Amino acid sequence: MLLRSTAAMLAAALSTTSAQEVISLVGSGWTLSNPDLNISVPAHLPSQAHLDLYANHVIGDPYYGLNDFNLRWVAWSNWTYTSAPISGLSSNASSTWLRFDGLDTFTDIEFCGQHVASTNNQFRQYWFDITSILADSACAAEKDRVLSIDFGSAPKIADAIANEPDSETWPSDVQQIYEFTNRWFIRKEQSDFGWDWGPAFAPAGPWQPAYVVQLGMEQVHVRNTLIDIYRAGQLPLTIPDQSQPWIVNASLDYFGRTPDGAGLRYTLADMKNNTIRSGEMNNVNTTDSTVTGEVMIEDGTVDLWWPSGTGEQNLYYITIELVSASNSTLSCITKRVGFRTIVLNEYPISEAQLAQGIAPGNNWHFEINGHEFYAKGSNFIPPDAFWPRVTRERINTLFDSVIEGNQNMLRVWSSGAYSPDFMYDLADSKGILLWSEFEFGDALYPVNPEFLANVDSEARYQVRRVNHHPSLALWAGGNELENLELILLNESAPEEFPRYQAEYETLFLNTLLPAVFENSRSISYSPSSTSNGWASLNFSSPIPIVERYYNLTEGSIYGETDFYNYDPSVLYNDSAYPVGRFSNEFGYHSMPSIQSWRSQISEADLRFNSSVVTLRDHHNPPGGLNTSNYDTSNVGQGQMTEAVELWYPIPHKTDPVANYSAWCHATQIFQADLYRSEIFFYRRGSGLPERQLGSLYWQLEDIWVAPTWAGIEYDGRWKILHYIAKDAYQPLVIAPYYNITTGNLSVWVTSDLWESSRGTARFTWYDWEGNKLPINATSSTDFEVGAINSTEVLQTFTTTALQGYDASNVVLHMEMQAQGRLPNTNITRTFRHDNWLHPTALRSANLVDPGLDLSFSNNTGNFTVTATSGVAAWVWLDYPAGAVVAFDSNGFWLAANSSREVAYTVKSDSTNGEWLGGVNVQSLWNQTLSY
Ligand SMILES: *[C@@H]1O[C@H](CO)[C@@H](O)[C@H](O)[C@H]1NC(C)=O
Ligand SMILES: *[C@@H]1O[C@H](CO)[C@@H](O)[C@H](O)[C@H]1NC(C)=O
Ligand SMILES: *[C@@H]1O[C@H](CO)[C@@H](O)[C@H](O)[C@H]1NC(C)=O
Ligand SMILES: *[C@@H]1O[C@H](CO)[C@@H](O)[C@H](O)[C@H]1NC(C)=O
Ligand SMILES: *[C@@H]1O[C@H](CO)[C@@H](O)[C@H](O)[C@H]1NC(C)=O
Ligand SMILES: *[C@@H]1O[C@H](CO)[C@@H](O)[C@H](O)[C@H]1NC(C)=O
Repeated sequence: MLLRSTAAMLAAALSTTSAQEVISLVGSGWTLSNPDLNISVPAHLPSQAHLDLYANHVIGDPYYGLNDFNLRWVAWSNWTYTSAPISGLSSNASSTWLRFDGLDTFTDIEFCGQHVASTNNQFRQYWFDITSILADSACAAEKDRVLSIDFGSAPKIADAIANEPDSETWPSDVQQIYEFTNRWFIRKEQSDFGWDWGPAFAPAGPWQPAYVVQLGMEQVHVRNTLIDIYRAGQLPLTIPDQSQPWIVNASLDYFGRTPDGAGLRYTLADMKNNTIRSGEMNNVNTTDSTVTGEVMIEDGTVDLWWPSGTGEQNLYYITIELVSASNSTLSCITKRVGFRTIVLNEYPISEAQLAQGIAPGNNWHFEINGHEFYAKGSNFIPPDAFWPRVTRERINTLFDSVIEGNQNMLRVWSSGAYSPDFMYDLADSKGILLWSEFEFGDALYPVNPEFLANVDSEARYQVRRVNHHPSLALWAGGNELENLELILLNESAPEEFPRYQAEYETLFLNTLLPAVFENSRSISYSPSSTSNGWASLNFSSPIPIVERYYNLTEGSIYGETDFYNYDPSVLYNDSAYPVGRFSNEFGYHSMPSIQSWRSQISEADLRFNSSVVTLRDHHNPPGGLNTSNYDTSNVGQGQMTEAVELWYPIPHKTDPVANYSAWCHATQIFQADLYRSEIFFYRRGSGLPERQLGSLYWQLEDIWVAPTWAGIEYDGRWKILHYIAKDAYQPLVIAPYYNITTGNLSVWVTSDLWESSRGTARFTWYDWEGNKLPINATSSTDFEVGAINSTEVLQTFTTTALQGYDASNVVLHMEMQAQGRLPNTNITRTFRHDNWLHPTALRSANLVDPGLDLSFSNNTGNFTVTATSGVAAWVWLDYPAGAVVAFDSNGFWLAANSSREVAYTVKSDSTNGEWLGGVNVQSLWNQTLSY
């Protein structure tokens, strides 16, 4: 059905009301075809060809087995989406338009058999005047009013552009190729061509809603809206004066007749729609495509928006009415907004900071409403290879897991797609800051005028579309450019560095920066994640930023770090982790659970090095991945194997599937262990000279079922990592820092509360059977830990402290209890955290059977796990497929003769509650058993 509706009926989707006629093209009633392949099937909009082919059984589940490779023919083919005849078009309208909110990617569009336009950018909104086509005799009958959209093959077109004689080339080993080649020539989701955590489907289709809009004589259609809320005088990247009033700048992008003499009225309302302020906007400026105005809102009129854990997420509605010179309403837009300042502070370390012991160099951290805070989170990748099936419900569940995981920031990685509004809406309500990026990564890009103009339109549309969301934290130009691409370039062709660096600046400074700064005074911009920040900031220059690049002074600290080292001996090795102001990426891959594997590969393929598993591990060396150069000595599987073998008991179960499952689990333990060690290292840095203020690990979630860096599997199931990160991101934590070679052991308490906290730390040594050992290290100490700071609570050397006890038969239990106040509240709470140290690798520890017991109480509805005969390491509650459940803790340790009550929340359940009966518990001890 093609739904016919007035704009009023679409108010929720479009946030607009007026008398104009808007016919939604969303729904079924479409046909997908390829005459050469003799395929013609019913289809939807929004959609992509793979989804409609799958729904019609032309292809199997794209995610199953090796379909990533087997379905390449879909990506190499052209696909046409054809509408049913569009009914309800009026012949009295003064103009008729097509509006597309997203076409992926290369199209030729026809209406009534006549060419309308061609498009070449997945990320732009397009609108076309079809008034004269509709008036043509070829379009007279309703049956002729068919819209057809031909999608060309993106991989073919990318290759064709690359082969044009004047196409740009780059020195060897600079451009990161995953599966399909030449992604940097086209404006399409870069990971559609493959990435090291995902498949390569290069889908095509109308992936966002589309509409036919008919306008009367005086009417306009608002297609996009910018709302910018900032403190008077504020400029991007500068520290705002929190005593200034708020300025609300609103700008409506429209098509239709220029509304000469138009005015703008605003209404600011609370979440109950009670009006707080209303009136005319000032300085109204009308051009032939936008109407802009602004208004001042006095400080104190509204409550601030804060990210999760630092205060409330206060939100407001702002309604902007476009009124004609004769005072009739032409259009009316409502957006939900928040009042906050968020700044990326990259200023030089001040004298006052130096006096506090902060190392010289530059800051690199975020400030919310004038406050420093510790950013805790992870990196978001596209949650599906096919965006049309990413629902609000799915992101809602994922974001609940983010909040439950004590995260307040996600870096929305830059080579997927710009986030849908519903994703920002959910982040606004839950208090998740979204560091957002333009879609460029791990490559250098062309700078011909057509490419730059295309990028400019894309960037301005996206910046304006999402600027009103208080969760928007930053715009960054792209992924791993200054810290990787330019460095690779310099290694490959040093003599050409200046030329390519100038091209880099043409795109990332001269093109993208103005797209942000000319639209937003509230949002900071950084050209590359990762970078050493700016060297100077001067708003009297046309491009205010000069990047620091590699001009570093010894002893000074600048910018962000990203860190990968696939030598598994870096675990616990503090001297291997980078020291910087903020960590935006770090990690190691692990296997998903056996439950997830079973949903996408066959039982026969459940082997660690089966060709299917190996071919789904895309973590291979750069230089190009395709079926011909994958081999079974796959780098990724090898690294995971080495990591398990170096640190943990090696699973050797007799049943091959049980063995596979135990290996999957062991890789997750290593992953979680490494991330925890790094998170504690970065967080402790908040109290060290680096004044480290952020830790975002790679990566939050999976795009499919495969060995990846994710903490949450494709269906929402938490890996051990997500539980361990939840533990490590608690406001107050106690953690060991141990040099296995020298025996140097220190224990620190770290807090990200905004006031100092006082408490007590306790230390108890045990053997694995759970006997307390009379080891002479301080057994308890009182401490005070400052606001966003860390403090040492124990320093010793195990070489002497163990007094001859066998290091493989001792463990140290560290417990912390403290009183602290939650930011922006009067709530003082007791915070507790505990941690364990094993001075040898667990592989060589004297593990004993801890005699784990699991019970379920119908009264409390909670599980209880008890260790009856020894210390239990890495206690794991597992549950069957068919449900997604989050336990409130998991992957923890238990002292001998102690219990932990574990509550849970059900995220989805197709087992009718039967998963409960299938819950079981194990610990590291079980990994050593051969059954
Ligand atoms: C596929 O589409 C491209 C352009 O999008 C066009 O040049 C080519 O001729 C088409 N191929 C076929 C077989 O229709
Ligand atoms: C307030 O208005 C908004 C936008 O018009 C609407 O979506 C929302 O449901 C209303 N809320 C209440 C509580 O009436
Ligand atoms: C109105 O906006 C246009 C486009 O942004 C700008 O060039 C022009 O200077 C503005 N006019 C006024 C009076 O501010
Ligand atoms: C325009 O109309 C609104 C009601 O729709 C009214 O409140 C306002 O005073 C009018 N403004 C002028 C300048 O007439
Ligand atoms: C390096 O930075 C210093 C100041 O931090 C500046 O004086 C110098 O000009 C810079 N050098 C280059 C080559 O940019
Ligand atoms: C242990 O400390 C020594 C001496 O400070 C240092 O060289 C070494 O890198 C450290 N090793 C680890 C694993 O931290």
